Amino acid sequence: MAPKNHQMTPAAALGIRSCFHSLIAFLLSLLIIGVIYLSQNGGEFNEDRITSKVSGRGDLLSRCNLFSGKWVFDNKSYPLYKEQECTFMSDQLACQKFGRQDLSYQNWRWQPHQCDLPRFNATALLERLRNKRLVFVGDSLNRGQWVSMVCLVGSSIPIGHKSMHQNGSLMTFRANEYNASIEFYWAPLLVESNSDDPVMHRVDDRIVRVQAIEKHARHWTNADILVFNSYLWWRRRQMKVLWGSFESPDDGIYKAVEMPRVYEMALRTWSDWVEVHVNRKAQVFFVSLSPTHQKAVEWGGEAGQNCYNETEPILKEGYQGQASCPLVMRVVENVLDDLKTRGINVQMINITQLSEYRKEGHPSIYRKQWEPVTEQQVSNPSSYADCIHWCLPGVPDVWNELLYAYIMNS
Ligand SMILES: *[C@@H]1O[C@H](CO)[C@@H](O)[C@H](O)[C@H]1NC(C)=O
Ligand SMILES: *[C@@H]1O[C@H](CO)[C@@H](O)[C@H](O)[C@H]1NC(C)=O
Ligand SMILES: *[C@@H]1O[C@H](CO)[C@@H](O)[C@H](O)[C@H]1NC(C)=O
Ligand SMILES: *[C@@H]1O[C@H](CO)[C@@H](O)[C@H](O)[C@H]1NC(C)=O
Ligand SMILES: *[C@@H]1O[C@H](CO)[C@@H](O)[C@H](O)[C@H]1NC(C)=O
Ligand SMILES: *[C@@H]1O[C@H](CO)[C@@H](O)[C@H](O)[C@H]1NC(C)=O
Repeated sequence: MAPKNHQMTPAAALGIRSCFHSLIAFLLSLLIIGVIYLSQNGGEFNEDRITSKVSGRGDLLSRCNLFSGKWVFDNKSYPLYKEQECTFMSDQLACQKFGRQDLSYQNWRWQPHQCDLPRFNATALLERLRNKRLVFVGDSLNRGQWVSMVCLVGSSIPIGHKSMHQNGSLMTFRANEYNASIEFYWAPLLVESNSDDPVMHRVDDRIVRVQAIEKHARHWTNADILVFNSYLWWRRRQMKVLWGSFESPDDGIYKAVEMPRVYEMALRTWSDWVEVHVNRKAQVFFVSLSPTHQKAVEWGGEAGQNCYNETEPILKEGYQGQASCPLVMRVVENVLDDLKTRGINVQMINITQLSEYRKEGHPSIYRKQWEPVTEQQVSNPSSYADCIHWCLPGVPDVWNELLYAYIMNS
């Protein structure tokens, strides 16, 4: 039972300013640093491969940067599950079901330069989650990762021993035998906003209460493992901030605050909550921004095109599109560093670079269309292609393999 979604359409997202023009110089300098780094380090790690088997707990992660690597075509081990065999697959992500013919997007394995990713073992993860709650909190990208996790784990649990249940913003998958739950809580901006309704959240005039998080946080404060994300909904030049409540709008004070300052304000509220309220024994993760592929010119494609018709990943190492804002990455890094000085370790799952390569991994036009496709759209398919979310099985499975490595190795 996939949730019926009316979230941001690709068309709406296309209208959002992708990033900040003054950043081009910054991007260039990053590129230069990257090239220097690559030329110094390229390909030297193979003699000293660290395998997950021989390393002790935590050792793998302290010695190997899992986020630096390359995609390898591997149709022997991948996909890790079959689309039609995932009981709780979402129609937004089931690309094969909605007509996609080229299926190699399901066959890519992430190969870190310095080591191998530990093999995903659903039973081992369920053992780890016994009597526990694993909760994903964030937007539709995070929900995609949650669906992927439910597919990865669910395929090893027979029907009748698992369930799905929705209550407001909270979706709960349960593995009965383990008394384990894997949940998703809809909060696209983490803090309170007028886009908090899990179904009807397409709002033109977006308003955010950067100082208020308790309405959401009370639902996941006692979780054992927390996985946050938030980026897509902040991709505009500025946001309207409300000091006051949505219930009595007349008493509120509204001010437009520029990005990324407003994002930083919200993450500070989030990090204060994590510091004070979240159990110190909990494992907390923040998934970095998920790149979009809405401008084919960025990777040498035709002007006016996007991810529609793409069938191969980008192979140029270090490729970065302009939709991934380095300033936003920096804000997350700073907030997490600051939490560390206060004794709280929130691990970033750095999916940005590795997902940048996967221009062919998006649903494009192969997903359930919530509104009928017009003749005009049919004549120009790229006009309604979704180049934001990710097909399953696909890229988010790898995000979960990275998450798995951290959950099992710490
Ligand atoms: C994410 O990983 C990429 C690839 O290793 C790296 O270039 C980038 O600096 C990392 N970003 C952060 C914020 O750690
Ligand atoms: C895997 O890919 C290779 C090369 O494209 C192809 O020859 C082979 O038939 C594929 N195997 C499967 C099981 O799809
Ligand atoms: C998966 O984990 C379970 C429980 O830890 C273990 O018994 C099993 O051998 C593992 N399977 C593989 C293929 O490693
Ligand atoms: C089942 O899991 C919940 C957490 O999701 C926990 O609070 C509860 O104590 C567990 N029940 C048993 C019988 O251990
Ligand atoms: C749904 O959530 C609300 C608020 O957390 C709670 O009071 C209620 O008992 C839940 N309902 C069900 C059916 O779980
Ligand atoms: C998409 O690919 C098909 C088949 O390769 C080609 O005929 C068509 O022109 C392409 N469309 C666009 C918009 O690139």
